[in-house]
Amino acid sequence: MIETIQWVDGTVVMIDQRRLPIEEKFVTCRTYEEVAAAIRDMAIRGAPAIGVAAAMGVALGVAGAAEEGLDGQMETICATLAATRPTAVNLFWALDRMKRLYAGLRGRPLGEIRQRMIEEARRVREEDIAINRAIGRHGAPLVPDGKTVLTHCNAGALATAGYGTALGVIRAAIESGKRVDVFADETRPFLQGARLTVWELQQDAIPTTLITDNMAGHFMKSGRIGCVVVGADRIAANGDVANKVGTYSVAVLARENGVPLLVAAPLSTLDLTLASGDLIPIEQRAPAEVTHVFGHAIAPPGTAVENPAFDVTPARYITAIVTERGVARAPFETSLQQLAKGEPK
Ligand code: MRU
Repeated sequence: MIETIQWVDGTVVMIDQRRLPIEEKFVTCRTYEEVAAAIRDMAIRGAPAIGVAAAMGVALGVAGAAEEGLDGQMETICATLAATRPTAVNLFWALDRMKRLYAGLRGRPLGEIRQRMIEEARRVREEDIAINRAIGRHGAPLVPDGKTVLTHCNAGALATAGYGTALGVIRAAIESGKRVDVFADETRPFLQGARLTVWELQQDAIPTTLITDNMAGHFMKSGRIGCVVVGADRIAANGDVANKVGTYSVAVLARENGVPLLVAAPLSTLDLTLASGDLIPIEQRAPAEVTHVFGHAIAPPGTAVENPAFDVTPARYITAIVTERGVARAPFETSLQQLAKGEPK
């Protein structure tokens, strides 16, 4: 099994996703600042994995904090981690969870506070794996048998604590006996599809074909794709989905070609405080990610660049949103609310 992130002897150990698939190296973080840098620099990425890293970062920060002025240090730790990446709401969800626990522990001995924060962070990781398995169970029946599934970016074990959301649905479909193969969009500019999705599916011997992003329409039109499954970084109350840039193009092509689009995400990816996807903050990343590939320039010096890391797919293009509590369908305003509250649909 791929170990994306673990708490090991008072450190946070994560597989360095910038170096995959060339080499399998691990980053060991000993301070919360190192965890923040690992998130910002994409050593760890993917919404749920970022959430686990943030929780462990807080635990690491409190473990290294002095008793005097602990409240202020806790604020600094959370603010530093919150400033790493703006789009995936799981980061803020995990920080809020750690803040709530901390508030309830005020006045307790420092040793106990530290221990409880570590236990909570480890629980966030373990729960994430269980949640992904539940997403897989709910999503597997929606995957057509004997067909190719297209996915964009990496919403797999590497993007979570394990098993994956979109790739978890594919894994669960295969575990349930369906014959499924995968088309992976390469996912320019960071190449999460080519580098990470292909690598992790190969580890599980799941048949996978790599295509460049601009080939997706061709294969949908020619009838090769049975359904599209993607993850999400933030889902607004109306069902609009922020996910890796390029997801919107895939969604429009899927609709045009009558291909179902499934979004697989934990309920911690819901942001019911935002009425629509227009309000989701979109991270802008460095121009060098577009002008360079593995350090080699592919554009003339001085080229003007835009590099939004995410786009928003309007809810009308989404067939279903698969969560650990079940499947939401249009109208998403009500179905997502019901799932969030744990009400039967
Ligand atoms: O920039 P990244 O690699 O963090 O973006 C990741 C994605 O867009 C994933 O699809 C999303 O976080 C869902 S991961 C289960």
